[in-house]
Amino acid sequence: MRQRLALLGLAAAATGYAVRRARRYPLRDRVALITGGSRGLGLLLARELGVRGCRVAVCARNGDELRRAVTDLRALGITAHGITCDLRDRDQIRAMVAETADYFDGLDIVVNNAGIIHSAPLDALGETEFDDAMRIMFWAPLWVFQEARPHLKGGVLVNITSVGGKISPPHLLPYACAKFAHVGLSEGLDAELVRDNIRVLTVVPGLMRTGSTRRANYAGNAALEYAWFSLLAGTPLVSMSAARAARRIVDAIEDGRHHLTLTPLARVATAAHGIAPGFTQGVLRTVNRILPGPGTEGPTVGFEAASRADQWGMRFLTWFNDRAGRDLNQMPEAGRAPVPKPRTRRRTLRRRTRR
Ligand SMILES: NC(=O)c1ccc[n+]([C@@H]2O[C@H](COP(=O)([O-])OP(=O)(O)OC[C@H]3O[C@@H](n4cnc5c(N)ncnc54)[C@H](OP(=O)(O)O)[C@@H]3O)[C@@H](O)[C@H]2O)c1
Repeated sequence: MRQRLALLGLAAAATGYAVRRARRYPLRDRVALITGGSRGLGLLLARELGVRGCRVAVCARNGDELRRAVTDLRALGITAHGITCDLRDRDQIRAMVAETADYFDGLDIVVNNAGIIHSAPLDALGETEFDDAMRIMFWAPLWVFQEARPHLKGGVLVNITSVGGKISPPHLLPYACAKFAHVGLSEGLDAELVRDNIRVLTVVPGLMRTGSTRRANYAGNAALEYAWFSLLAGTPLVSMSAARAARRIVDAIEDGRHHLTLTPLARVATAAHGIAPGFTQGVLRTVNRILPGPGTEGPTVGFEAASRADQWGMRFLTWFNDRAGRDLNQMPEAGRAPVPKPRTRRRTLRRRTRR
């Protein structure tokens, strides 16, 4: 009996290994396009894909930040190309995808990563905020995919969504609406594109320390909105290191996966919402009671809101996220730190030394 069980275990392990090997997607010499690759998670994904052998194109609106990102990537020995593009405009998307495919003579991986955040109570939000969120985080991923589709046979489409696309937290309504739509798009495409031999990877991250809290928009009571949002986003047990998130995402691309949820809290929250949505909604109503009340301020950029909330205690509590911001091209030129090399995992290192 024991022998039979041992044999069964061995057979299961061998089958699992064979399936994992068959699903593997080697990254060497692939061409990857990362939207919003000028800073934050997008820049880290470009670095991680680049050190594992991809040639990368990154896009964003801010030309100076994009140039700095491309310089950073090239300094790591990565073949990189920057394209200025406003993803709210389909013509610019068409031109960006065509330029990537021309420049590198192909396109294998598309990462829909660009995003924006408006943190404000409902009464401080207008139609513009909803429209912007839907354009950048729903329509742009759809348009980017449609333009890239002819190149993607045998390739991978990666959608960076959010736990805000599974549960709708208070004061982030435009973001959550767009991310719910993005999750729906991504999971729907995953099922349909099997016929086209295009793999879709849906990434559902919880909070990550990308330093983007100073780049978000706040309204109502802007300084207080900044304070609660950056406290959550910068707390180590609640949020995860963005560098680790990028490594996990690129591992998932390489391992042939279709779904990845990041952070234990995001996993627990989505599971709880699936099983007992009435309970999680109750928690969200309670959270809303402790969030700042409706104020009168219009949209305020993060740097300004941060300067008003910037007391000693705040600086101490947001230290991790602020440091990430300096490393990830989020700060104006004067406040930047030198670019750190990505921490190569043992697995990546092995592969690089084998070359
Ligand atoms: N940080 C988190 O805790 C967290 C959690 C869950 C999910 N996510 C998701 O992860 C992704 C990356 O987040 P992040 O924190 O790294 O964000 P980030 O640092 O604010 O970076 C956003 C990127 O998107 C670009 N972008 C924004 N609007 C654009 C537009 N209209 N056209 C072209 N590019 C545009 C930005 O460049 P320009 O401004 O120059 O255009 C920038 O490169 C987002 O989709 C976000 O929703 C983040």
